[in-house]
Amino acid sequence: MPPLNGSADLVIVANRLPVEPTTAADGSTEWRVSPGGLVTALEPIMRANEGLWIGWPGGTDVDVEPFEHDGMTLDPIALSAEEIGGFYEGFSNATIWPLYHDLVAKPEFHREWWDSYVDVNRRFAERAADRAAKNATVWVQDYQLQLVPQLLRELRPDLRIGFFLHIPFPPAELFQQLPWRRQLIEGLLGADLIGFQLPGGAANFVRLVRQRVGHKTHRDLVYLPDGRTVRAEAFPISIDYQGFEELARTDGVQERAASIRHALGDPQTVFLGIDRLDYTKGIYARLRAFSELIRDGELDVDSSVFVQVATPSREKVEEYRVLRDEIDRLVGRVNGDLGRIGRPAISYLHSSYPREEMAALYRAADVMVVTPYRDGMNLVAKEYVACRWDDGGALVLSEFAGSAAELRQAWQVNPYDLNGMKAALMDAAGAEPRDRQRRMRAMRKTVRQADVAAWATSFLDELDDVRPPHGKRLKPTLTS
Ligand code: G6P
Repeated sequence: MPPLNGSADLVIVANRLPVEPTTAADGSTEWRVSPGGLVTALEPIMRANEGLWIGWPGGTDVDVEPFEHDGMTLDPIALSAEEIGGFYEGFSNATIWPLYHDLVAKPEFHREWWDSYVDVNRRFAERAADRAAKNATVWVQDYQLQLVPQLLRELRPDLRIGFFLHIPFPPAELFQQLPWRRQLIEGLLGADLIGFQLPGGAANFVRLVRQRVGHKTHRDLVYLPDGRTVRAEAFPISIDYQGFEELARTDGVQERAASIRHALGDPQTVFLGIDRLDYTKGIYARLRAFSELIRDGELDVDSSVFVQVATPSREKVEEYRVLRDEIDRLVGRVNGDLGRIGRPAISYLHSSYPREEMAALYRAADVMVVTPYRDGMNLVAKEYVACRWDDGGALVLSEFAGSAAELRQAWQVNPYDLNGMKAALMDAAGAEPRDRQRRMRAMRKTVRQADVAAWATSFLDELDDVRPPHGKRLKPTLTS
């Protein structure tokens, strides 16, 4: 482990730390690993290389000294209320987020938000510059920190810098709208390797570089005037497949899955959606499709139920408040019109759950419904597959989720096509067990072979190749 104030050979820079503060029974603060795959992916390589993770611990002005947690050194960056408003809720989540998700909502462009984004990105870059050892590797994560690569390179040209975008990268026609488009492209070009979820995102980026900045490009390479080369390539992210499967096989999870079905009235078909409550996820459309099937008499509430878990998210951003109200209203209306005593059509939970409960829900569901309008990858789809060690269950998956490129055997749908979605829900629910098994087995093989450890390793190996280390290579891990 690096000394708390010393320098590290591997630095992860992400908007969020991999832990979040919780209040213990005695009132003290305890740190709990946040759900999410990134930390699982990076933990082994962090340990092997005595890595450091720089990020925001959540909350306003939470000013905490660097600390150790479970073998990792964490270095918190405090954000003020103003920065949360401008950098996080504003530019990151009301400008970039909708713009990069195909304008599912209308992005807002405000100069004060941009200024805050620049300031906070600079703080992250300065902290990384301070803490990285000579010739270290720094891996910057996601859309909140797109200026960090360039700002960091100016401060520390010796570093090897990687960047990975977890969300889609839009076509040039949309990106073009951004008043600060050139600055963002130049920010990203500070990295040696820029990772995207899909080849299409990488191609969009390279095309923009050629058109907007005028640098020479060849396939996935960008040639900068100072002689540096930058590679833009796809690295589809994945999950801890083995971890999920093992969890799903435990007695506790299996018993919990049975009791969930029982509590739902032991229906014939349990449909399930699990998402952050976000307008990109297509929650409203899928619940409408399901309720129309009940209304049309194709399904009935005695034998079918839709369980929708919506995890609270970004609740101060206007679009998210509006969405929450819309879903509340829809669920109320559907259950009021179509439900019976003890048999709601939709069982709606606005809450977040630990991994064990998620695994039990996946085990309890006959049909998993993942219908985003646009999604970088969607790990819920992969988690569902990992938990179905019995080769049972069916996956209905939007063709606009990044994971659709790998999960070819899902019932793929266009979430804008309500009738198409209704047909897919019926097909998936009524499929022959042999058909389901064949599809699930194939998808399980795909995810097993491309798990999150493989993702992290291939990115870091490629980074070594793009910018050969000055004597220092990262130590590989035993687990990947
Ligand atoms: C997406 C983003 C992540 C983000 C997460 C949760 O998956 O790609 O960068 O951390 O959503 O959103 P939040 O705003 O709560 O960090």
